[in-house]
Amino acid sequence: MASGKFITIEGPDGSGKSTQARLLAEYLGKRNRSIVLTREPGGTFLAEKIRGILLDPDTGGMAPEAEVLLYAAARAQHVAEIIRPALAAGKWVISDRFVDSSIAYQGYGRGLDPAMIWEVNRLATGGLVPDLTVVLDIDAEEGLSRITRQRETTGGRAVFDRMEQEETDFHRRVREGYLDLAKQFPHRVKVVSALGQPDAISRQVSGLVEQLHHQKV
Ligand code: TYD
Repeated sequence: MASGKFITIEGPDGSGKSTQARLLAEYLGKRNRSIVLTREPGGTFLAEKIRGILLDPDTGGMAPEAEVLLYAAARAQHVAEIIRPALAAGKWVISDRFVDSSIAYQGYGRGLDPAMIWEVNRLATGGLVPDLTVVLDIDAEEGLSRITRQRETTGGRAVFDRMEQEETDFHRRVREGYLDLAKQFPHRVKVVSALGQPDAISRQVSGLVEQLHHQKV
């Protein structure tokens, strides 16, 4: 059986990844692809529990090493339980975040050595690399103010999770991290501006996926 494709959607907080991941799943679903839409940290019972620890503001400060290992632990379970079996069954997997998030947040954001993060994640993923990674690019201030606006309109006062509560400079470094990843891996990592209407952005994202579709693998 033809094996499926693995697509990851990345970007700073407030870049609209989750919406784009969903729109891409709808687009591919209409084209009769069998889709698994998932997210990190999370996607399995264990990984969602780890997500709770990582994002709960009450967890407070965490050693960056502990943080990178918890994200990797969640990822290991996600890869073993969801991603690999789906790809082996010929499905297309769309993940809202993957290893590049750890490079951007724990590497550029927290200052851990990216080489070490790749190494830890090689263990977590068994060396699984996405076929395509779309980075939704947004500036740190704009991303954070989008989150504030969205949450205020949906539920009153905006509440930020443990990562979102980081200072703006942290989020600026995260964005730089993503742009550097796109420079380092130009064939895999494509940058799309997160500014504009969701439908217009979605057309750009699906265009990139179509190119992948026509590649011989
Ligand atoms: P996110 O996926 O943005 O969730 P939501 O859209 O529900 O707010 O939240 C996950 C947070 O975890 C986000 O701030 C990025 C961070 N993160 C890392 O720092 N490292 C990682 O490896 C991953 C997967 C996420």
